[in-house]
Amino acid sequence: MEKKSFDMKLFTPSQIVKELDKYIIGQTEAKRAVAIAIRNRWRRQQVKDILREEIMPNNIILIGPTGVGKTEIARRLAKLSQAPFVKVEASKFTEVGYVGRDVESMVRDLIEVGVNLVKAEKALEVQAKAEEMADERVLDILIPPVRKTQTAPVVQEGEEQPANGEENEAYQNQKTREWMKLKVKNGEMDEKMIEFDSQAQSSMGMQVLGPFGMDDMGINIQEIMGNIMPKKRKKRKTTVKEARQILAQEEMQKLIDMEVVQKEAIERVENSGMIFIDEIDKVAGGGKGQGPDVSREGVQRDLLPIVEGSNVNTKYGVVRTDHILFIASGAFHVSKPSDLIPELQGRFPIRVELNSLSEDDFVQILTTPQNALLKQYGALLETEGVKLSFSKDGIREIARIATEVNEQVENIGARRLHTILTTLLDEILFDVPDKIPSDTVKIDAKFVKDKLEKIVKDRDLSKFIL
Ligand SMILES: Nc1ncnc2c1ncn2[C@@H]1O[C@H](COP(=O)(O)OP(=O)(O)OP(=O)(O)O)[C@@H](O)[C@H]1O
Ligand SMILES: [Mg+2]
Repeated sequence: MEKKSFDMKLFTPSQIVKELDKYIIGQTEAKRAVAIAIRNRWRRQQVKDILREEIMPNNIILIGPTGVGKTEIARRLAKLSQAPFVKVEASKFTEVGYVGRDVESMVRDLIEVGVNLVKAEKALEVQAKAEEMADERVLDILIPPVRKTQTAPVVQEGEEQPANGEENEAYQNQKTREWMKLKVKNGEMDEKMIEFDSQAQSSMGMQVLGPFGMDDMGINIQEIMGNIMPKKRKKRKTTVKEARQILAQEEMQKLIDMEVVQKEAIERVENSGMIFIDEIDKVAGGGKGQGPDVSREGVQRDLLPIVEGSNVNTKYGVVRTDHILFIASGAFHVSKPSDLIPELQGRFPIRVELNSLSEDDFVQILTTPQNALLKQYGALLETEGVKLSFSKDGIREIARIATEVNEQVENIGARRLHTILTTLLDEILFDVPDKIPSDTVKIDAKFVKDKLEKIVKDRDLSKFIL
């Protein structure tokens, strides 16, 4: 069987960095580190069995102030590699409410993502076939196939001549079907109402919730219930258009072998799954949390077996965590990576520092990434026929103010750009389209200054607004 290594072999480390460059400005060192880690997983897959088992992922800690792209790198990476990916906040596990929700739940979440990923891929594979089968079912309703035992079929209106004998009749029926099929496919029948049987089970979107904790024990209530309860058939009446969609969905479910999906998902998670543990610094240091919170060290101790490699029970089966890649991140303002328990430190051999962002970085972030904020707002207003045009000095001014507020109030990195832009564009966003009809709105340095200068100068005010 062909092993899909998710086209990752198409991405060399430098190509991964190049992809990340499309979204994240600077932070080259961090990009390099993750690119190597990702590529190494693919490389490992190519190594012969015995040695392959020995090659452990090089887990990474991203260290850097808030809002400089740590989470963003992880997010983009996940999209890129199409690997199962989850992000958790380490500090969550110290909270009282989460005591019941053990650290292993991150692996369960990961397998859930993996199953959905594989299922979506399989769905794509069978889509054409499922649609074809759905169309056949629709045709069966529109033009019921001839049954041998039946005699003297009712001649459809407008049909030329009654069929003589069974063979001829079958032939006619076939012809009519083909003719109708074309109409169905062309969407000519879209509006016609038809009645059909649909399997109502679970597609109703009903979630069967088991008793608390069942899920954590790796028991799939949904499936057990699904097997006990008979598949309910429900008569539905919809347009042909909708029926085709519903039936295609149903056929798809039938064509996908969930057992295969689960098996593949587990394999995928074990070999290319990624868990991003955000705010790891919040559980560093031995300090006991206050009150009934779980101690930070306690969380580290819980994390350790998962990061070191253990078996976790999930409802899809046992998942081995040995080769899951962990990327941790934290600002480490107060604590240092060396405040983590030694065993955990050892499991994160790669440390990368991210830099704080400068005014020049902000100019770049505002303009160049594919999802750059200015592009986003531009696209929003374009839907109203308004063209936002930022002059160079206008952009520079926004970046300058962002830097200034970051220095004076609190450094929240590139997140500052979001708050500044919403304030800056607030009026325009409100006045379009009533007061500002289709037009070009120019935003230059003067506009930015007029709008923001007063707020920036008033530190109390900027604390609240910017
Ligand atoms: N270097 C960068 N290039 C482009 N955009 C960035 C960069 N750094 C941050 N951003 C943007 O700023 C926002 C916050 O970034 P991100 O979530 O990555 O912060 P973080 O480093 O994880 O911070 P925290 O420590 O608070 O979790 C995101 O919308 C992201 O797109
Ligand atoms: Mg983050």
